[in-house]
Amino acid sequence: MKTPSLYSKEIMKHFKHPKNIGIIKDADGIGESGNIVCGDIMKIYIKVKNNKIADIKAECFGCIVAIANTSLLTTMVKGMNLKDALEVTKDDIVKKLGGVPPLKYHCSLLAIDALSEAIYNYYKKNNIPIQEKLKDKHERIQQSIESIEKRAK
Ligand code: FES
Repeated sequence: MKTPSLYSKEIMKHFKHPKNIGIIKDADGIGESGNIVCGDIMKIYIKVKNNKIADIKAECFGCIVAIANTSLLTTMVKGMNLKDALEVTKDDIVKKLGGVPPLKYHCSLLAIDALSEAIYNYYKKNNIPIQEKLKDKHERIQQSIESIEKRAK
């Protein structure tokens, strides 16, 4: 397949051969995110060992950019401690992907949001104190999902 000029080689590489796709049945944390602009959703599953992401899998129901983002992010954060994983931004991902068309910029949030929700879920389940910043992010993501669900009905 010829690479559409809209997307970088790095995006197409991850889109054609996405990494860490699937589910983890006995996940320690599960996070779901939804994109308020397009209504696409995704889920991330993590296994945590010694405060690090020992394994990560994702189900992405999004576009080419969202799939490439998911593949890259999951590759980057595997083995990372949870605090550092929460510091990865959509700009970090976009840069590593060699840029994203402006119209597709919102797609870069899906994976980042689902990852922070998976970490939030892990903290919550294990009674680990949650920083205000992460709580606020959780609220925003939950509102997006609720809004998408309302529109879908
Ligand atoms: Fe929905 Fe890209 S158009 S995630």
